[in-house]
Amino acid sequence: MAAAPGRVNLIGEHIDYSDGFVLPFAISDKTVVALARRSDRQIRIASMQKNADVYEISIDSLTPHKGENWARYALGVLWVLGIDAGVDLLIDGRVPLGAGLSSSAALECSIATAVNHLFDLKLSLAELARVSQKAENVYVGVPCGIMDQSVSLMAKAGSALLLDCRDLTSENIPFLIAPQGLELLIIDTQAHHKLVDGGYAERRASCEKAVATLGITSLRDISVADYAARQSELDPVTYIRGFHAVTEMRRVLDAVDALKNNNFIRLGELLNQSHRSLRDDYTVSCPELNLAVDTAIAQGALGARMVGGGFGGSAIALMKTEQVKRCESAISRAFSSAGYKSPRFFTSLPSEGAHVIAN
Ligand code: GLA
Repeated sequence: MAAAPGRVNLIGEHIDYSDGFVLPFAISDKTVVALARRSDRQIRIASMQKNADVYEISIDSLTPHKGENWARYALGVLWVLGIDAGVDLLIDGRVPLGAGLSSSAALECSIATAVNHLFDLKLSLAELARVSQKAENVYVGVPCGIMDQSVSLMAKAGSALLLDCRDLTSENIPFLIAPQGLELLIIDTQAHHKLVDGGYAERRASCEKAVATLGITSLRDISVADYAARQSELDPVTYIRGFHAVTEMRRVLDAVDALKNNNFIRLGELLNQSHRSLRDDYTVSCPELNLAVDTAIAQGALGARMVGGGFGGSAIALMKTEQVKRCESAISRAFSSAGYKSPRFFTSLPSEGAHVIAN
């Protein structure tokens, strides 16, 4: 058996595919998989969240395909790893689905971890992250970056993971806010979040276009000032999307400094700036996320922003512990007045990454 967590990204949004630094942490909700080798070449897979209905396929029939079947995320990992034996898989996924908390990465990484152990593949965490990302990119057909899988595999309890998405090296940045009397509220807007839609791929393509037009290796390799000086070389949409990326990269490093200095006021400002950049420049927010963020700030949060791919999903808000209940009520009321679905609220301490839990 192996377990792998979902994630929240503190800051560094939509820059993992531009070689940026990101600062996510693992949440305590995990996906657990039980894996057993079979003597034939069948794969049998079932999920506790789907009535344990068994889906069965031969290992020789695995092939990338589109569709709604959740099992593709699991099968993709087996396909990338190229295991040469049938297996039984039972999944218990406790990461909230469709909340932008990376339930898909948790599923992929729990399976990658279990297979790595059972088949003694000796792959490193960085290799397992690449395997899981490839499963999603190629088998499932979602062009995600490397952040979610990396943090699900590499996270350490009590820390956010400063991940260099270029080479997957990382540093653990202590993120212990309870002793400061603070809490990070996670607000699931329940608005629909569908990365398979074109919006994500289109943003990614804009960043690639900016890189190609400017003749640089990646948006990581240009300062904000140099980028701004070359504005006339890019069309307006490409420019403004790239501008989000170069400024967000700066904000991540500033956020690490703020955390190292226990400066949570500064961290809050950076969260707010990140949200404005995602909303106005990168245009991946949505009315529900903006309402959650604006209401949290009006209630006195130090900072708030959308997290993940956007177009729905969750927001985070950093606030004093005693403000949490009032803030939750205010957001619920605002959502109800706007005619939106009721939001769900979570809090989570930074938790441990994937691990084998039994033999
Ligand atoms: C999704 C993707 C990640 C990342 C974020 C945005 O979660 O899976 O790779 O690009 O969006 O930061």
